[in-house]
Amino acid sequence: MKNIAVLLSGGGTNLQSIIDAIEAGKVNGRIKLVISNKKDAYGLKRAEKHNIKASFDNDESSIIERLLSEEIDLVVLAGFLKILSPKFTKTFENKIINIHPSLIPSFCGVGYYGLNVHKAAVDYGVKVSGATVHFVDENADTGPIIAQEVVEVLADDTAETLQRRVLEVEHSILPMVVEKYCDDKIEVSGRRVYIK
Ligand code: GRF
Repeated sequence: MKNIAVLLSGGGTNLQSIIDAIEAGKVNGRIKLVISNKKDAYGLKRAEKHNIKASFDNDESSIIERLLSEEIDLVVLAGFLKILSPKFTKTFENKIINIHPSLIPSFCGVGYYGLNVHKAAVDYGVKVSGATVHFVDENADTGPIIAQEVVEVLADDTAETLQRRVLEVEHSILPMVVEKYCDDKIEVSGRRVYIK
């Protein structure tokens, strides 16, 4: 069974999607800890409701120490609004995944978070957007892509309505990737990732 840690900064609906998949018996893993770099993140409350160790921590070295001491196999960034240092990403190479609410490499990188991403997609006039789960390296949203799912952009979409539909897709591809990871079904070869 894999040990999972979830890092977040906000509401934690993506965390919830992983908790639900675990409670439904789909994932060969358990969430050992949830860490937020924001004190009042609702994601911490969600974790507590499910008896998962949850705490505020905004110090990278301390977070790394805790992940190592809990023998974490997979770190999930689920709305974690902070770019990790090379030390962090090297320590957990190919063990950190992130969910991003666009089809990378569009609308990603520094400054593309939250509603900004969807506003940029709507303003640009793209016909499709979507969600991406990828491995995390030392730069923002540049690591190898594991899974993507497309969401159609409708003529009357606003950033808010698009965000809602993309979030639904996030809640399906993130737990799917966590499940495959925990079953050792994800293989990385350079930038190509294969789900077996
Ligand atoms: C999601 O859109 C995720 O893709 C992005 O931040 C948002 C977090 O939402 N990285 P939540 O906290 O999981 O509800």
